[in-house]
Amino acid sequence: MLQSQEVKQVQPADGIWHNARIAPSGNPDQVITDAAMVLRDGLIAWIGTEAEMPDEFGQAGLARHDVGKRWITPGLIDCHTHLVYGGNRADEFALRLAGASYEEIARSGGGIVSTVRATRLADEDSLFQQSARRLEALLAEGVTTVEIKSGYGLDLATERKMLRVARRLGTSYPVTVYTTFLGAHALPPEYLGRADAYIKLVCEEMLPALHAEGLIDAVDVFCENIGFSVAQSEQVFSAAAKLGLPVKMHADQLSNMGGTQLATRFKALSVDHLEHLSEADVIAMQQSGTVAVLLPGAYYFIRETKQPPLELLRRYKIPIAISTDSNPGTSPSTSLLLMLNMACTLFRMTTAEALTGVTANAALALGKADRHGLLAAGRAADFVVWSVESLAELAYWSGLNPCSTIVRAGQFSVALQKETA
Ligand code: NIG
Ligand code: FE
Repeated sequence: MLQSQEVKQVQPADGIWHNARIAPSGNPDQVITDAAMVLRDGLIAWIGTEAEMPDEFGQAGLARHDVGKRWITPGLIDCHTHLVYGGNRADEFALRLAGASYEEIARSGGGIVSTVRATRLADEDSLFQQSARRLEALLAEGVTTVEIKSGYGLDLATERKMLRVARRLGTSYPVTVYTTFLGAHALPPEYLGRADAYIKLVCEEMLPALHAEGLIDAVDVFCENIGFSVAQSEQVFSAAAKLGLPVKMHADQLSNMGGTQLATRFKALSVDHLEHLSEADVIAMQQSGTVAVLLPGAYYFIRETKQPPLELLRRYKIPIAISTDSNPGTSPSTSLLLMLNMACTLFRMTTAEALTGVTANAALALGKADRHGLLAAGRAADFVVWSVESLAELAYWSGLNPCSTIVRAGQFSVALQKETA
């Protein structure tokens, strides 16, 4: 069972993993067949074909783990989530099914702001419990790294509470959590008509305070007609840059306001959503080395019809990542495998592109390609053994979880158990 680390017995996975097929970067077009991987002290000591494994490992009396020709990939990375929040928005879903649009609901005081109310009301333990079950679902499918955004507090105390819960999830479960401050997600009701004053609060109080508390790994902005303008986004990015924090952006989801152009000027790690991205935006992304994060769950759930420009992204060789965008309003999903399926069926990505999108390219989108998304000597042992004939099956099935073993930081995590269970 995968367990909260607060209760789990540590089971090291050290030894020789052999009789395997390994895709070291997650890309099924670059594989090692008849592969072996040696784990020592939680790290990958060696990886290659079994025939080439140095004798010193074979003779060292190490434990042997026969994988039975199954596939091994790096642990999956969910690089864009809003996993921590209070309540849910099933009532709003009903309104949307009856014909209301996501924007209409947001403008009439629902949407993000209704989750803000529930999140402000939840105490830290309740928020942890509500979020933990979503995290558990992600982990059960082989996720070993997850990004979690704030943005349902919109005041200092609640943004702090969200980020603390996110950090605690990372110390309680076998997963690496990266936190992103999304104070500029929506206008809190008490600032109605005073967006510039709220942005000042974000830049001058919330961001510096939460950064000083070590709660922020990156900074995000929702740049949209129902979010914040390009000028307001620029203020947030400038404040982040002053603190040396990397930035990313919810950009070009519902309209093209020039968000991606701004983000690339700040060398954003990623721009995310991108249904309304233009060719000029893609060229700017190429120059700034910005990753495109596509979110098929949100596209699906809000019944979007405009597709992100996949051909342009391919033409300009932009790295593409895929993520759940797990959130209560536009993507109440806790399945990264289902997102692989949707990226292929809805966006016509290849299965190889989709898989690279939740491994190597997702690591790039977090600015952590040196630590995640690649199985190589000297790296932490975060990997998944899959009971599949071909890796394409990870994107092919919907609902079947072919994950057979998960090793994270060199330790087994096999199934899930709640912190309090
Ligand atoms: O990624 N677009 C803005 N933020 C979220 C939705 C948040 C919500 O509706 O609660 C997104 O789609
Ligand atoms: Fe999002």
